[in-house]
Formats: sequence, structure tokens, C-alpha cells
Amino acid sequence: MPATELNDCRFLKACRREPVDATPVWIMRQAGRYLPEYMAVRSKVTFMDLCTQPELAAEVTLTAQRVLGVDAAILFADLLPMLQPMGFDLEYAKGEGPVIHNPLKQAADIDRVRELEDVSSLHFTFDAVKLIRRELPGDIPLLGFAGAPFTLASYCIEGGGSKHYIRTKTLMYADEGAWQTLMERLARSLIRYIRAQVDAGCQAVQLFDSWAGCLSPTDYARYVLPYTKMVIDGIPAGVPVINFLTGNPALLPLIKQAGGSVFGLDWRVDLMTAWNDLGETYAVQGNLDPLVLQDWSTAKRQAEDLLTAVGRRPGHIFNLGHGVLPETPPDNVKALVQLVHERSAALRNTAN
Ligand code: CP3
Repeated sequence: MPATELNDCRFLKACRREPVDATPVWIMRQAGRYLPEYMAVRSKVTFMDLCTQPELAAEVTLTAQRVLGVDAAILFADLLPMLQPMGFDLEYAKGEGPVIHNPLKQAADIDRVRELEDVSSLHFTFDAVKLIRRELPGDIPLLGFAGAPFTLASYCIEGGGSKHYIRTKTLMYADEGAWQTLMERLARSLIRYIRAQVDAGCQAVQLFDSWAGCLSPTDYARYVLPYTKMVIDGIPAGVPVINFLTGNPALLPLIKQAGGSVFGLDWRVDLMTAWNDLGETYAVQGNLDPLVLQDWSTAKRQAEDLLTAVGRRPGHIFNLGHGVLPETPPDNVKALVQLVHERSAALRNTAN
């Protein structure tokens, strides 16, 4: 694959805020449970098999990129398997999502969390990256990803999903030293894990802080920002980082301090208002409400409005404001990708 072709692709140009012929688009969780091609592979194996067998992970990644026509592929993996070599007993229980059977119950338990000094036990992910990169079209970048320290910490402490993050916040407030130890161990482990994804062949990475929206700005600044910043500072310069957080627009000025060249916006903010607040010198990604994809006419109208609002300002990567929902008709996702390409190209030709 010629390196220049990849470097000049729409997606990476948009990360650098260079002009593009049409707005690049990809869909968070694009390879997942709404897609019949995914379900067909998944019906034969467990989710963990999918993550740990590079050929299967590659097939699922490549199929999603191809059938949707999106401008980037995202590695098929999950946020949590990296916690296994750190000492957590992870299971994807049927119908329940991820479960950690030995969560951290008190501050003293943090002593048993092993920092990931050596990422070789996660070789299946890096092997998948190599396989995918070999098969992907030369103008399609491959995104790596990981959970941000807070989102990972919430799984380590809650043992699964949570509504109010009571245990996580209680531990965080009760023993700030222990919290710091946990967050630093996660952050240093994440740097090694993400660097290995990049070394294996990813062109950009997204950091998912999916649950940090439960925090107030003051708590985010004190308990989370320094560690997210540590991770982003540890990613090699020149690799675009999409810093994504959902659920709390009041955190946006702080997310900017944590770093990254692209900010992932959820649908609870007006994209142009948020972008103007962040500053035009950053790229942004987002931010259609995933729910509108249930109905094509609503999705079409809202996507067109978003593209019109952005106009020709460079640095927009079209995406949903959060992951695509399992109930979504795949044809609507395909139609959205096509619409974004066509409408954004037309806007470039007609706008002054
Ligand atoms: O985007 C993609 O297509 C790549 C793969 C990907 C998965 N998980 C595969 C997956 C990505 C980027 C993730 C990220 C992830 N994993 C997040 C952040 C999501 C966000 O949008 O903020 C979180 C919180 C997790 C942890 C996780 N993994 C949960 C809560 C669940 C169960 C619920 C769900 O989302 O399906 C998983 C399982 C999981 N990860 C599935 C997939 C395709 C479904 C597994 C199945 O087939 O049963």
C-alpha cells in the first residue's frame, strides 16, 4: 500500500483539517450487532472468540467497512480484554454484557492490579491489526481504540455496567491516593497497548470515555483529566487521537485540556456551537443522535441539516453521537454513508 495514498485519504486529511472532496464518515460500533453479516459470524462463536481469533476479528472489521462504504475501518476488539492480564476475571455473559467476577471492592484491592508491562499476551489484537491492514483498501485508514482510564476503572470497580457509578465514585472520593495508583496503572498500561496497535498498523486511535459523563466538571478535572492527558501525551506524535466522551457537554472545555486532535461530540450539543467553543483549530467528529437512524426520513433531514451547518469548514468527520443501536436497520446506515458523501460533495461545489 503506498503510504502517501493512505496519508492523503479523506479521513486523515480531515483530522489535520485539510480540505477534502467530501466529508469522511464512519459509524461508532459499525461492525456490531445490528449487522446481519456480523450476526452470521457471531452465531457460530462466542464474543471472546471473535476478539481473540485474528482471522475472525479481521473478517468482521473488513466486512463492515466494505458493506457500509465508510471512510475508516475500526479494529474489531473490545475495551475490556486488556484488563485480563492486569488480573481481572472477565466474562461476556449471555445477554448481560461484560462481567468482571473479581472487581475491586475496597481501596486496598488496588494493590493487586498488575500494570501491563508487556502487552504480548494481547497479541491477538495486534495480529488482527496486521491482517486487516494487509486487506484494507489503500485509501482506508484503520482506527485502533481503547477505553479511557475512567471508563476502564468503572468496570474494574463496578464489575460491569452501572447506572450511578456509586462504588466507583465512593472509592474515588474515599481514597484519592489509591485512586491515583489505579488510574496511573491503567494509563501506563493503555499507553503500551495503544502504541502496540499503532506499531502493528493503525493510522489513528479513538479513546472512549463512554461513562465519564457521570462526573461534574470539578471531579472530572481532579480525578480523571490528568490520567486521560497522560495517555494522550504518551501516544506517538503524528497519530491523530479522537478524544471521545459522552453524556455531559459541560466537560467539553476540560476534554480539550486532556488533549487530542479530534474531539468526538455526542448529540446533546449543537455541533457548531461546541466546535466554535473548542476553536476552529481542532477537528470534530459527530454527532447525529443514533436513535434517528430508526427512521430514514428523520435521519436524512437531520444529517442534511448537520452538513449544511458545517458547510465547507475543514475538519469535520461525520459520525453518530454514540454507538449505533442494535435495533438499527442496516440499510439506513448504508444510506446515511451515501448521503453524507453526496451531499457534502455537492455543498462543496455550490457553496461560495
Ligand atoms: O466499533 C466497532 O464496530 C468495533 C468494535 C467495538 C466493540 N466494543 C465490539 C463489541 C468497540 C469500539 C467497542 C467499544 C466498547 N466496548 C465500549 C465503548 C462504547 C461506546 O460507544 O462508548 C464499551 C462500553 C464496551 C464494553 C462492552 N462490550 C459492552 C458494554 C458490551 C455489551 C453491550 C454491547 O455494546 O453490545 C460489549 C460487547 C460488545 N463489544 C459487542 C460488540 C460487537 C456485542 C457482543 C455480542 O456480539 O454479543
